[in-house]
Amino acid sequence: MASMKTTFLLALIFLLLQTEFISLEVIWSNSSAGNSTVGCIDMEREALLKFKEGLDDPSRTLSSRVGEDCCNWLGVGCSNRTGNIIKLDLNGQLLCDQMSASNINWLSGLTSLKYLNLNGVNLSEATTDWLQTVNLLPSLLELHLSNCELHYLPQSFPSVNFTSLSVLDLSLNVFNPSSIPQWVFNFTSLTKLGLRQCNLKGSIPKIAKGNICNLRNLDLSENYNLSGEITEFFQALSECSNSSLEELYLGINQLIGNIPHSLGNLKRLRVLQLYGNTFSGSIPSSIQNLSCLEILSLEDNKMNGTIPESIGQLSELRELRLSGNYWQGIMTETHFLNLTKLSYFSLSSSSSNLLVFNVTHDWIPPFSLKYVKILDCQLNSTFPAWLRTQKELTKIHLVNTAISDTISNCLWNLSSQLVKLDLSHNKLMGNLPKSLNFSFLLRVFLDFNHLEGSLPLWPHVTELSLRNNSLSGTIPIRIGQEMLFLKALDLSGNFLIGSIPSSINEITYLRSLLLSNNYLSGNIDYHWERMPGLVYIDLSKNNLSGGIPSSMCSLHQLMWLQLSNNNFSGNLSLCLKFISSKSLMTLDLGENILSGPIPEWIGERLSSIKILSLRGNMLFGKIPKQLCNITCIHVLDLAQNNFSGSIPSCFGSLVGDKYFDGIIFEEITAHMDFVVKGRQYEFYNQISIVNLMDFSKNSLSGEIPTELTNLTFLNSLNLSWNHLTGIIPENIGALR
Ligand SMILES: *[C@@H]1O[C@H](CO)[C@@H](O)[C@H](O)[C@H]1NC(C)=O
Ligand SMILES: *[C@@H]1O[C@H](CO)[C@@H](O)[C@H](O)[C@H]1NC(C)=O
Ligand SMILES: *[C@@H]1O[C@H](CO)[C@@H](O)[C@H](O)[C@H]1NC(C)=O
Ligand SMILES: *[C@@H]1O[C@H](CO)[C@@H](O)[C@H](O)[C@H]1NC(C)=O
Ligand SMILES: *[C@@H]1O[C@H](CO)[C@@H](O)[C@H](O)[C@H]1NC(C)=O
Ligand SMILES: *[C@@H]1O[C@H](CO)[C@@H](O)[C@H](O)[C@H]1NC(C)=O
Ligand SMILES: *[C@@H]1O[C@H](CO)[C@@H](O)[C@H](O)[C@H]1NC(C)=O
Ligand SMILES: *[C@@H]1O[C@H](CO)[C@@H](O)[C@H](O)[C@H]1NC(C)=O
Ligand SMILES: *[C@@H]1O[C@H](CO)[C@@H](O)[C@H](O)[C@H]1NC(C)=O
Ligand SMILES: *[C@@H]1O[C@H](CO)[C@@H](O)[C@H](O)[C@H]1NC(C)=O
Ligand SMILES: *[C@@H]1O[C@H](CO)[C@@H](O)[C@H](O)[C@H]1NC(C)=O
Ligand SMILES: *[C@@H]1O[C@H](CO)[C@@H](O)[C@H](O)[C@H]1NC(C)=O
Repeated sequence: MASMKTTFLLALIFLLLQTEFISLEVIWSNSSAGNSTVGCIDMEREALLKFKEGLDDPSRTLSSRVGEDCCNWLGVGCSNRTGNIIKLDLNGQLLCDQMSASNINWLSGLTSLKYLNLNGVNLSEATTDWLQTVNLLPSLLELHLSNCELHYLPQSFPSVNFTSLSVLDLSLNVFNPSSIPQWVFNFTSLTKLGLRQCNLKGSIPKIAKGNICNLRNLDLSENYNLSGEITEFFQALSECSNSSLEELYLGINQLIGNIPHSLGNLKRLRVLQLYGNTFSGSIPSSIQNLSCLEILSLEDNKMNGTIPESIGQLSELRELRLSGNYWQGIMTETHFLNLTKLSYFSLSSSSSNLLVFNVTHDWIPPFSLKYVKILDCQLNSTFPAWLRTQKELTKIHLVNTAISDTISNCLWNLSSQLVKLDLSHNKLMGNLPKSLNFSFLLRVFLDFNHLEGSLPLWPHVTELSLRNNSLSGTIPIRIGQEMLFLKALDLSGNFLIGSIPSSINEITYLRSLLLSNNYLSGNIDYHWERMPGLVYIDLSKNNLSGGIPSSMCSLHQLMWLQLSNNNFSGNLSLCLKFISSKSLMTLDLGENILSGPIPEWIGERLSSIKILSLRGNMLFGKIPKQLCNITCIHVLDLAQNNFSGSIPSCFGSLVGDKYFDGIIFEEITAHMDFVVKGRQYEFYNQISIVNLMDFSKNSLSGEIPTELTNLTFLNSLNLSWNHLTGIIPENIGALR
């Protein structure tokens, strides 16, 4: 316990040293800093006691407060001349639990307070007029109220009392949606303003000339709805004869506009973080003046133009993040000339093939990267030789970069330190190394290449995608023993033969298994129950046969099951009954030789299903009206069976599900074929836009129910090749 307190105290002192506050006269309880010569002022002690009474302090942190001299209490600092409390630091993150205070009116008793830190203290019940209370503290220099569950951010304010404020941190409070109030920019001595994740909307207010010239750190990031031009903001900054700005965080908002030439005036800027907005235009050449710049993050905007070579002069640059824009032109060695400290580099262009990365074969870069991400731009068709010089890489993404070469050995030599390798969508050739000593938790994506040979066994790999290559041979029998840590395996679209080894049962963490579009045969009678985490199974387009095993019934997390285009046989009611999963979103059993009727319980059992395809089997009997319970259906394909009887009129009450996005989890690209208006289409990811109902090529009879005209959400309704009679509902043309 005692050592915990010491740690706490040390943390406080550390915090103190980190602030500018060291110049002030502070005495810390039980620290060697000294002693209060004057002692605690009675009124102020009363105020603190009042605070303590109103405090819900489960960890009893403040119970250590003993003695008359409140200057010696934990978290309290006094002036050594007057004895006034000038510092109150209850940074909740330093305390183990969340504390909450029901009231902060006691603060008004501490009129000399210069430093107030209540970070992490739950003030949600502490009134809406927290600002009025704070306004009674005219000496305040630093106000830290981050993560305090404040909800009310006053927009206007008669007159600010604490005019010398230097630090204002209100980050991580989910305010009721509000604009950035004008008053936060009214402090001429403001050096740090923190409004990250505050749920702010609207635009950055007009800033009076000179009001932000002392600002060193401005954080408005992750407000999502902050919008409008930033030009005026940069204008206000450029009016400073000597701007102090060192760190600017505006990421993840909806800000627009060009980055003006005056950016170059911010000579002390170290961090420029603008990612995830809608900034346009090009990078101003004045950027070369930012000689202190360490982090430049422009990812995911709408910027275009060529990237100025002068960027290569920024010798302090550690992170250069340029991906997700519309760059064009050629990047050469000059762009990296002096970037000796670069460790993170990302580049991509959404303007197809307009960006070329052209360096000489024998280029030795001045940097040593840990992370490289180059997407959607042209590298030389040979494997980039300069990568050989990069010995510290842990994450490599070279995706859709037109490399047509074998994978360089230099890359495999890094295998023990890599945590992610993504070389998908190139034209890589050759065989993969049979065995490699990859590091733990490695994620490997080599999809959409021309790789050949047999499947390697790489222990410690957690995700492996080799989709759409030319791998051949069988899946190694020992895959389960050797690749025990796999969570995701995608071998779809290769030339694999033989049966799926039963050792896959050993891969108990497996979440997704995608083996579609190969030549796999045999049955799938495995112990599926040993892989209870399976969410996604796609074995479609193979030559698999036998029944759908009952052990699949225990896959309670299963969301996606595709077994279409195989030779699975047996009775549908038997195999389906086991899948009790409420989470099942897609069941595709089309183009097999399943027989028997559709069980009546299917509607209730699978009520959350979005895609149900039983197309092209030998099913018969009536279409049960219980299927109407699946109201949020997107695709109901019963075509090419032998169903008889009439179409239940309740189908008119199906409504679809506009929130269905077809995404299971990020790593998985859902893939499915659909027959729309008689033609087969292949869909990747945009599966959610497909809405169709197909009952064609059965033996259905009776009248077409007029209710079907209600199904306006459908893209396609096919009832052809049946024995249906009566009038085709006249509104049927209203379908999209
Ligand atoms: C009070 O603080 C000042 C300035 O930090 C220091 O010079 C002085 O020695 C301190 N007085 C005592 C009694 O600790
Ligand atoms: C501070 O010191 C006093 C005696 O000098 C001691 O009784 C008290 O427990 C100490 N407080 C802390 C938090 O260490
Ligand atoms: C603080 O001053 C009081 C009274 O002058 C004295 O008893 C105490 O030992 C001093 N504490 C420290 C840590 O110097
Ligand atoms: C903060 O306090 C309020 C009111 O006491 C409570 O409802 C809320 O859950 C607390 N927040 C957290 C994160 O504990
Ligand atoms: C400014 O602070 C003083 C001292 O606490 C207080 O008396 C006065 O009412 C405050 N003014 C406003 C507008 O809150
Ligand atoms: C902020 O400054 C503007 C103009 O400089 C002034 O009109 C306004 O009253 C000030 N607001 C506060 C709360 O002081
Ligand atoms: C950049 O985009 C703007 C429109 O946002 C366009 O007017 C301009 O011509 C583009 N510049 C280049 C170099 O493509
Ligand atoms: C950039 O590198 C070149 C060649 O290595 C060197 O002459 C120049 O001084 C460097 N410039 C800066 C700003 O570091
Ligand atoms: C790449 O650079 C070489 C020589 O530096 C040049 O000959 C070639 O044309 C350039 N390629 C492209 C696509 O710009
Ligand atoms: C690609 O690299 C080769 C060999 O290093 C070189 O001869 C060729 O000029 C490069 N092509 C381009 C377009 O840069
Ligand atoms: C299924 O639909 C029927 C008739 O519309 C209804 O009575 C029943 O409650 C529904 N069951 C479920 C589970 O939604
Ligand atoms: C569907 O259409 C029929 C007539 O065509 C209509 O009576 C009924 O209210 C509509 N709505 C639903 C949900 O069935």
